[in-house]
Amino acid sequence: MHETHFGSPRSRVDGPLKVTGAAPYAGEFTAPDLAHGYVVSSAIAKGRITRIDTKDALAVPGVVQVFTHENRPRTAFRSNAYQDEVAPPGKPFRALYDETIVYSGQPVALVVAEDFEIARYAASLVRVTYEAEAHETDLEKVQAKAYVPPVKRQGISPPPKPRGDSEAAFGASPVTVEAGYRIAVEHHNPMEPHATTVVWEGDERITVHDKIQGAQNSQSYITAVFGLPQKDVRVVSPFIGGAFGSGLRPQYQLFLAVMAALELKRSVRVVLTRDQMFTMGYRPDGLQNVALGANQDATLQSIRHDLIANTSTFEDYQEATVNWSAMLYHCDNVTTTHKLAKTDLYTPADMRAPGAPTGLFAMESAMDELAHKLGVDPVTLRLRNYADIDESTNKYHTSKELRAAYQLGAERFGWSKRNPKPRSMKEGRELIGWGMASGAWEAQMAQTSARATLTADGRLEVACATADVGTGTYTILTQIAADALGLPMEKVTTKLGDSSLPKSPVEGGSWTAASAGSAVELACHKVRETLFKSARGLDHSPLANADIERVTFHGERIALVSDSSRFVTLADALKAAGVEKIEAEETASPSKLTQMRYNSFTHSAVFVEVRVDEELGQVRVTRIVDAVAAGRIINPKTARSQIMGGVVFGIGMALHEESMPDHNLGRFMNHNLAEYHVPVNADVHDIEVIFVEEHDTLTSPLGVKGLGEIGIVGTAAAIANAVFHATGKRIRELPITIDKVIGTAEAA
Ligand code: MOS
Repeated sequence: MHETHFGSPRSRVDGPLKVTGAAPYAGEFTAPDLAHGYVVSSAIAKGRITRIDTKDALAVPGVVQVFTHENRPRTAFRSNAYQDEVAPPGKPFRALYDETIVYSGQPVALVVAEDFEIARYAASLVRVTYEAEAHETDLEKVQAKAYVPPVKRQGISPPPKPRGDSEAAFGASPVTVEAGYRIAVEHHNPMEPHATTVVWEGDERITVHDKIQGAQNSQSYITAVFGLPQKDVRVVSPFIGGAFGSGLRPQYQLFLAVMAALELKRSVRVVLTRDQMFTMGYRPDGLQNVALGANQDATLQSIRHDLIANTSTFEDYQEATVNWSAMLYHCDNVTTTHKLAKTDLYTPADMRAPGAPTGLFAMESAMDELAHKLGVDPVTLRLRNYADIDESTNKYHTSKELRAAYQLGAERFGWSKRNPKPRSMKEGRELIGWGMASGAWEAQMAQTSARATLTADGRLEVACATADVGTGTYTILTQIAADALGLPMEKVTTKLGDSSLPKSPVEGGSWTAASAGSAVELACHKVRETLFKSARGLDHSPLANADIERVTFHGERIALVSDSSRFVTLADALKAAGVEKIEAEETASPSKLTQMRYNSFTHSAVFVEVRVDEELGQVRVTRIVDAVAAGRIINPKTARSQIMGGVVFGIGMALHEESMPDHNLGRFMNHNLAEYHVPVNADVHDIEVIFVEEHDTLTSPLGVKGLGEIGIVGTAAAIANAVFHATGKRIRELPITIDKVIGTAEAA
């Protein structure tokens, strides 16, 4: 097949809609007679509601109803009805279920009014009396009660079985490092708040505009919870203003909006406030410990990585955090453990490569500490312990060009000019530090269906239920489809984010390009075959004896490769078949055999320069080179943008992002964007992205591995390592804030 668009930089097809404000988001859809809901949040972290007085709220003119646990309509009784597609094991939280409070900020009432301001005002008049119980939100205080989760979360590998004897090997190692690491709890903080607009279509039918990374996940949640038939619930979310994992699971505003709409038999919208965005999932807290043992020749003898992470009292949230330490390097003695401890907070959620930047911050910091102690270059240490296979599972990699990533990244960065001695590089009053780290993330393909429809006017439509969360999915699917039928991209329309479209899992895990991309290509190829058959079947067809391998599809013509003057037009081919359109729906599935034999990961090598003003404690990340090996790149322009976004997330993790708990109140204090810091333009300097050539024929039929998350992985570790190189201070708790830089962290 001729590739005109695949592999070429293309601007976003949805760009004009977004910059002109014409792209509608969940809280912007409207309906006649739309009512507005405002959520009342719990003021205590644990206990029960003894009294809830809604009289004053109900008396406000324009208030339609106030829903509480006392008057909420009946919904599914069984807990598993609330378990969405990506829920961890446990009993999902149910809004307004009963008087029990299990976390601070839990919704305790929904005020529905004729407009938003009335609802908000009336919400302030709802009087809730609580009987508080002692809560515990501090992981350090509950770590003694840590346990191995009895039920594994679907799709998440638990830590691999230990290999060798890490304890004995550590004891016998001449050079060792061991330390504890921690990152702050982080909230996703997408620009678009969580919102749901339920349009009442009459006859118990609803159209739901939800902020969700998988329209079908919300659809099946609604049908299970409210006992509605699938045909009466359509979920549509064509655009997402960022989610980063917070939109994988249906959030409580969806439940509340649908509940209110069904009960009131009218359209209802519920939008959460920015501070309520801190009353749902977050990147979990975790106490990590890494111990490494090596010989003098810098070969790893022992790796141990232990983690105790927090979860809620009602679900066992799990992510792959320590696993990376068992697969990244060659080592015969490895133990990794992952335990959970319950805190009185909401359940953590997948966030921006869940687990990987966390676990690798610890592991790649420890590797840097080991390199320093051994007196070897950090890149040399990684190359000396390079693992050709995944030793944690004894599987081959579908492809792994991490070695090339180290080399190309180091070269572009100018790593060879680094003076290994901490505090040795200075300019004016600034200390300069160069650090690096490795990154890895899963490259998955998930079963996905897509439909392609070609019409006589030469237009092609491709459709799949998956979402474009701002990553470029609309654009890459358009490229793939255009190539398959030799059309310009303007002739292709891609439809996404609609539960009525062909089946797709949630958009997440970086699997969408490989999965939806393969499905779209399959469907388009089916159309191509049908089209070719009718072109060949035409009376006196110039393609009468041709086979599909020897024709090209280009400019609405199907022509012989050997003689382009012999062709059939697309319109004639359709006419010959006697149809207005050709349509095909296909399902792309990963190969079971490949999955059995191989593991598939993307990799990266991140090189960072920081400049530190020691007197002010200010750290600036002035230069980053991220060399990424992720198979074939469909669109270098949107791909670069993906990686840059991930790298900026990494800067946030290293220097800014921190949800600060007040354990006394059992809640996060800085629940707003003034006090929860994310990197702004002034924090982001030079980022260079290199895509390392990597041939992968096994991960997906397209040779694509996915890019959504690898950009963040390794970045925070590389920044922390650069800060050590600049200052001689090893900071093992993220974010690296001013107090830690000028404080008394361990010196070199
Ligand atoms: Mo991602 S954390 O799977 O949205």
